Amino acid sequence: MRYPLAPLYCRPWTLNGISPRLIESHYENNYGAALNRLNVISDEIEQLDLGKTSDQSLVRLKRDEAAALNSTLLHELYFASLGGDGRVLPDAVASAIAKDFGSVDRWRQEFVGIANGLAGGSGWVLLTYVPRDGRLINQIASDHDQSIAGGVPILALDMYEHAYHLEFGANARAYVAAFMRNIDWSAVKLRYEDAIKVKPPRPLEQPEFADVPSISAEEVRELLNSGTPVQIIDTRPNHYTSKAQDIMQGAVWRDPERLDEWIGTLSKTEPVVTFCVYGFHIGCGTASTLRKAGFDARYMAGGHFAWKALKGPVRLFE
Ligand SMILES: [Fe+2]
Repeated sequence: MRYPLAPLYCRPWTLNGISPRLIESHYENNYGAALNRLNVISDEIEQLDLGKTSDQSLVRLKRDEAAALNSTLLHELYFASLGGDGRVLPDAVASAIAKDFGSVDRWRQEFVGIANGLAGGSGWVLLTYVPRDGRLINQIASDHDQSIAGGVPILALDMYEHAYHLEFGANARAYVAAFMRNIDWSAVKLRYEDAIKVKPPRPLEQPEFADVPSISAEEVRELLNSGTPVQIIDTRPNHYTSKAQDIMQGAVWRDPERLDEWIGTLSKTEPVVTFCVYGFHIGCGTASTLRKAGFDARYMAGGHFAWKALKGPVRLFE
């Protein structure tokens, strides 16, 4: 067996309004089934003769494997979410939730609202930490799937009928309320502390331009929207612009090869933003040269295409 069984994390006899019978059935029949399915599927994949297996069969098995693996992981998290009194959030979790949702009450309203909305359907409601953004988000994971890439779920509510039907019948709202009364916030806090240690994905690094400050396309948009005076120079290379059809609105194109000819037209009292096609070399190099000449210059990270991806306004390039 490749994937091991996790012992039940919560103590069923301590739960308030959720009976041991429900937890036992859920753990034995649904978590156990997911784990067994996962091991069968992964064995099957391992033993495939890939030369003789159709791509479609492989895709089906990989989809089933992902669903079974996620079901296993989320059930383990679900049982580890229960066992507390649901009331007092430790300060670290309360302030993180307040920062990302406005307030704990608002978080609770959203989380419970999603859960109640799934009543009669199925899926998971998760509180997930996203390292890229350094923030928490409530999410739905239907079909044991749809996990946020790189996200670390720290609280899980199982909204599949098998999680409550035995005891609550169709009254999913009563089940959701009972779940909220039993959240083990001290365990959530420990998971939150682990999650925030996960580093965000590595950003693009350009060590050769480490000393040249950049500005994001979003920040440039803010500057323009606020009417802040700024000189925006499109320095896409001449050979590239001969086939380019558009240019950022508010920018003027200048040939980066002829910087000597146009540098004298720039004002030293207004900041300068330069950019090239993708933001790798020419925009950075130009900003660097301008800084050495005493201009307050930065390059726009991501260049022309970052602006386009933000749907920033462009005009016809003639
Ligand atoms: Fe379940």
